Order: sequence, then structure tokens, then C-alpha cells
Amino acid sequence: MSQSPLPESDLTPGAVLRRLRTRRLGRAYEFLSACTSTNDVVRGCAAAGAAEGLVIVADSQSAGRGRLGRSWHSPPGQNLYLSLLLRPALPARQVTPLTLLAGAALARTLAEAGATPRLRWPNDLLVPAAGEFRKAAGILSEMATDGEGVRHIVMGVGLNVNSQDLPPELARRATSLCMAFGRAFDRVQLLVDFLAAFEATYDDFLARGPASGLADWRRHADLGRVCRIGQDGTKVEGVATDIDESGALLVRDDAGHVHRMVSGESG
Ligand code: BTN
Repeated sequence: MSQSPLPESDLTPGAVLRRLRTRRLGRAYEFLSACTSTNDVVRGCAAAGAAEGLVIVADSQSAGRGRLGRSWHSPPGQNLYLSLLLRPALPARQVTPLTLLAGAALARTLAEAGATPRLRWPNDLLVPAAGEFRKAAGILSEMATDGEGVRHIVMGVGLNVNSQDLPPELARRATSLCMAFGRAFDRVQLLVDFLAAFEATYDDFLARGPASGLADWRRHADLGRVCRIGQDGTKVEGVATDIDESGALLVRDDAGHVHRMVSGESG
């Protein structure tokens, strides 16, 4: 397969808005050929009063970031780096499941595109590659609060779509859809399908709560596996059995004790 990227114009507003099926999410849409981090750009727009639904996509990021202070490899012409602005009128303590719901929507999108995604709590999406599951996408949600309420949430999604190689430090645990499935994927189709899937999930969450979105997350999750996870300076080892209604991971250790994990990662 050649190294040539899809045309740079594939994510421009004209191309995306023509195919967008949502009512709110992405109706305000901006494409940047480069930026530091789309999460930073959307946070700035939120501070300036932008409305819920704004989506910023960048072709490349110079300071893309992930959870736990990690950087997000963001070369041009290949992948999807997007951030979405949400303003749910809810107490901050009720919105913790939203990261999982975005993961569930992304997994649904990829399954419909012919990939076979697997979700790993809290924010990783993996696909089969080289006989194991490797990370192809991650979600970084950042919230600003107003007392007990939410001022805004920036939901950032990084999806390795058409990268054909990765830096050595990532190559053993990460992959792209193209590397995993041996063909190029259409970035615009993935973007509009994800926005449609997440809008449906988000509307259902606002109307009825997280139960249906979390059930969807479970359907794609790699629950039942042994994991080690750190929280508050202690490491828990056990089987990841389920998530609860707030999106916390439930881990049963050898002694049968169930630990409720709200942070960390379940590698
Ligand atoms: C993770 O796996 O730790 C989360 C990765 C999130 C990366 C995306 S790319 C678009 C948005 N902008 C960023 O700087 N980060 C998120």
C-alpha cells in the first residue's frame, strides 16, 4: 500500500457537512490543518461562549495529549483528532459515564465499518493486530465545573485511522485501523458516523440516564479478564467483572473482595 494520504480536503467543512446526519453535534464545525490540541481549541471556544455541539477537527496536532499526562501521536493526513463541546445541564457527579458512552458510540461506529473493536476501561479502544489486541483510539474528556454543576465538557477523541507505521515506543501496543485490517478507511465517514452514534447515545443519556449507553459499552468491553489497576497509591489485581451505573470499574480480587475503581487504567 502506498504512503499517500487521503486528500487534505477530505475533512473540510463542505465535505463533512454534506454528509453529516446529526441535529446538533457537528452543526458548528471547524477544520484546522494544524493546532496544538483540539481539546485546547474547543476549551478556548467554550470560554468564549460557544454552544453545545461545536466540533473541531485537526489534521495534525503538535501537542496532542492523552490521559495521565501522556502525549498523543498526531501526524498529518492520516488519522482523526476531534474535540466536541458538551454543556449538559446536570450536576458534575452525574456526568462521569459520558466518557464510556463516547467509547461505546465509537465502538459501534467501527463495528459498522467492519472493524472488530474492543473497549478497555476507562477510555481505550483496541482492535485485533498481530495476534493480540492493540490500542487504536483513546478518549480524553475534560470538564469545567461551576459549583456543583457542569460548565462544559470537552470530549476529545483520537483515532488512528490510516497510519501505516508508528514510532517505536508505540509500535508494540498501538495500531491503526489500516494496519490492523489491511485497508484504508474513510475519515469523513467515520467522523459523521461517530457523531450520529454519539448524538443518539447522548440524547438518550440526557432523557433517561446512562443505563442503555452503559449496556452498549459492556457489549464491546473486554470484561472478565485479569487486570492490575492502581488507585490512591495502591495496586489492585483481580478480574474486571463489570462497571456500575456511574461508570466505575468493579474488580474482584482473589479473596473475593470487590474493589470499585474510579480512576487509573485497567492494563
Ligand atoms: C488517551 O488515550 O489517553 C486519550 C487520547 C485522546 C487524544 C485526542 S486527539 C483529539 C483530542 N485532542 C487532544 O489533545 N487529545 C484528544
